[in-house]
Amino acid sequence: MRRTTMLIAAAGAFAMGLAAVEARAGDVAAGEARYRVNCVNCHGKTGKGMASFPAIKGRDAGYLASRLTTYRAKEKIGPNSAIMMSLTSELSDEDIANLAAYIASAFP
Ligand code: HEC
Repeated sequence: MRRTTMLIAAAGAFAMGLAAVEARAGDVAAGEARYRVNCVNCHGKTGKGMASFPAIKGRDAGYLASRLTTYRAKEKIGPNSAIMMSLTSELSDEDIANLAAYIASAFP
C-alpha cells in the first residue's frame, strides 16, 4: 500500500516535471549568449541574415523553435539545410527554447 502510494506520487511528480519543461518559456539571456557564439556569424547581429544566410527576424518563438527542431531531426527545409542540421545536432530542447525566445524578442 505504502509502496503503491509512493509510486503514484513519483509518477505524478514526473508528469508535472514534463509539463514544466514543455511549458517553459526560453531564457532570453542564455539564448543571447549562445546566439553570439553559434549563430551571429551567419544570421547577423540584427537577424537580417546575409548573402545566402536567411533573415530570421520578425518570427515568433514557436516558428523558430519548430524550424530548429526540424533541422535537428535532419529534415530538409531549404536547399542549404545541411548547414543547419549540423549546427543544431547538439542543441537540447532547452537550448532551442532559449534561442527562439532570444531571437523573437531581440529581432521582432
Ligand atoms: C554557417 C552559417 C549559419 C550559421 C552559423 C547558422 N545558420 Fe541558421 N541558417 C543558415 C542557412 C544557410 C539557412 C537556410 C537553410 C535551408 O536552406 O534550409 C539557415 C536557416 C535558419 C533558420 C530557418 C529560417 C526560416 O525562416 O526558415 C533558423 C530559424 C536559423 N537558421 C537559426 C539559426 C540559429 C538559432 C543558429 C545558431 C544556433 C544558426 N541559425 C546558425 C546558416 C547558418
